[in-house]
Amino acid sequence: MASRNAIGVFDSGLGGLTAVKEFLRVLPNEKIIYFGDTGRVPYGTRSRDAIRRYAFQDASFLLSHNVKMVVAACGTVSSVAGGELREKLPVPYTGVVNPTAFTAVRVTKNRRVGIIGTAATVASHSYKLRLQKLDPGIEVFEQACPLFVPLVENGVIDRNDVVTQAVAARYLQPLKEQGVDTLILGCTHFPILRGAISDYMGEGVTLIDSGLETAVYAAKVLREQDLLSDDETVQTPEFYVSDTPEGFKNVAGLFLGRDMEHTVTQIDIEQY
Ligand code: DGL
Repeated sequence: MASRNAIGVFDSGLGGLTAVKEFLRVLPNEKIIYFGDTGRVPYGTRSRDAIRRYAFQDASFLLSHNVKMVVAACGTVSSVAGGELREKLPVPYTGVVNPTAFTAVRVTKNRRVGIIGTAATVASHSYKLRLQKLDPGIEVFEQACPLFVPLVENGVIDRNDVVTQAVAARYLQPLKEQGVDTLILGCTHFPILRGAISDYMGEGVTLIDSGLETAVYAAKVLREQDLLSDDETVQTPEFYVSDTPEGFKNVAGLFLGRDMEHTVTQIDIEQY
């Protein structure tokens, strides 16, 4: 039966908004409730236990809004706690790893795929394991890019900025040398740096944006389970954060690709 309940999307902070942007495009008639854990970002440098605990609190907050699906729009959470979330949540769950891996396997021609993500994502080998399960012959090259996250959070994103270019070159050089033809942007912050990343990697390398693939996958799951909304009006998303909304609003427009005229509400995530 169709459901007008919202889709709950969360991330450690702002990065998940790159996924929300794609959700709004792919599923305009679905209500999106977004939680960004801006008070505890970054997750990518934390222990597995901390990431796991945060992820379940974030999901509980969304469930308190009666969401019909939970999406971890965060490479780190999907990598470290995805299996457990899928198993334990009472509604359908998706992270960003599986949808992205499916697309990468389809897209690569030379079967040499690069992954960039946070330190925790790369240490988990989540993308690599998934890709090699889908195609055991595929060669996967992983690279943690921890400095990309603060660059994005601080708006140092211009493809012509020497700092952005230098950091991109430092991280991407080994992947370029390996001759990958496909590069997974395994962290939801990274699509914001797409310009600098693609300039460095060159035109022959396809960049895969986890947000878009996840939105398409979520739409498929909801359709299969007959949970898509039957409301034909365009919905306005709701935004919640765990730190002051001011900082969030300033940078959120950049991630969403549109002016951030929505209200943003601060909540106490430790209560969940
Ligand atoms: N958005 C997070 C991810 O996709 C990166 C930021 C963080 O370290 O929390 O992994």
